[in-house]
Amino acid sequence: MKTITIDKEKCIRCGLCISDCVSSCIGFDDDNFPEMKDEKSCISCEHCLAICPTGALSFNDKHPENSEGVNYDDILSLIKSRRSVRQYKDEDVSEETFAKLKSMLPYIPTGCNSHSLHFSIVEKKEIMDVLRKKTNDKILKVIKSRAFSPIVDKFERYKKAFMDGEDVIFRGAPHLVVVSSPVTAPCATVDPIIALSYIELYAQHLGLGTCWCGYAQLCIKIFPELCELLDIPSGYAPGYAMLLGYPAVKYQRTPQPEPYKISEIREIKEKDSCFFCKAKRIVTNFIR
Ligand SMILES: Cc1cc2nc3c(=O)[nH]c(=O)nc-3n(C[C@H](O)[C@H](O)[C@H](O)COP(=O)(O)O)c2cc1C
Repeated sequence: MKTITIDKEKCIRCGLCISDCVSSCIGFDDDNFPEMKDEKSCISCEHCLAICPTGALSFNDKHPENSEGVNYDDILSLIKSRRSVRQYKDEDVSEETFAKLKSMLPYIPTGCNSHSLHFSIVEKKEIMDVLRKKTNDKILKVIKSRAFSPIVDKFERYKKAFMDGEDVIFRGAPHLVVVSSPVTAPCATVDPIIALSYIELYAQHLGLGTCWCGYAQLCIKIFPELCELLDIPSGYAPGYAMLLGYPAVKYQRTPQPEPYKISEIREIKEKDSCFFCKAKRIVTNFIR
């Protein structure tokens, strides 16, 4: 069950929960109060709970009074306050802020200290707009031609928005960071992800919004022209992409995510698993 409950005494019907919903599953009811319209599309990100300026919205049994206030200074609060930002101000991030971000990069750890990452940082919105147009045109062509159905399938959820001209890939972000690593690096797939995690947290501390961008990553991987535009060196593979910019939204409180599974290992428990169980594990480990 995925539902929202509105305290009608508190709700000011501003619609922020609707405009910030990644899956467009909230809409106004006949009295202009928000209501859940499409439970199936909801991904439980709790942005609706986090953004409500008056604390009028509960998501399932998660009530705003049980959330913490946002704070980007202390490290634990920053981790809890981080949100994926999908609405950005239409302006460039200052050179000074980019300089601070770049000065942190050398401290990012890499496997075997290979220290060979490459950072493509689109620092100008006008360049981002060129990249945006090129990418959107290419994807539109692929969708229309239905030539590569596995790729088209990945865009299925947002196909309509895409056809309506919405920037569902880059979310209107003015900047993009793509981290690449040499394919021969000892930890080639992990290093860029670590780098972007550091960038994401420091960026939020600097007052920036970020969003991991699987769609951009996919486009960069399938269209070699984008690798060239991003100046990714030959022999390097794009590891992942992240959107960046000043946020045009302000979150008021943290979500209340479900806990992950944790095995608290405090003693040795020998298990005599069968040959097939062991073989299954090996297959599972290497599928990744
Ligand atoms: C690896 C990864 C890829 C993602 N790709 C996208 C994407 O392409 N577009 C998007 O809008 N959000 C993307 N997200 C953001 C997730 O949807 C988001 O983290 C999730 O909904 C939880 O929201 P929160 O980050 O605000 O807590 C991605 C997140 C991760 C970790």
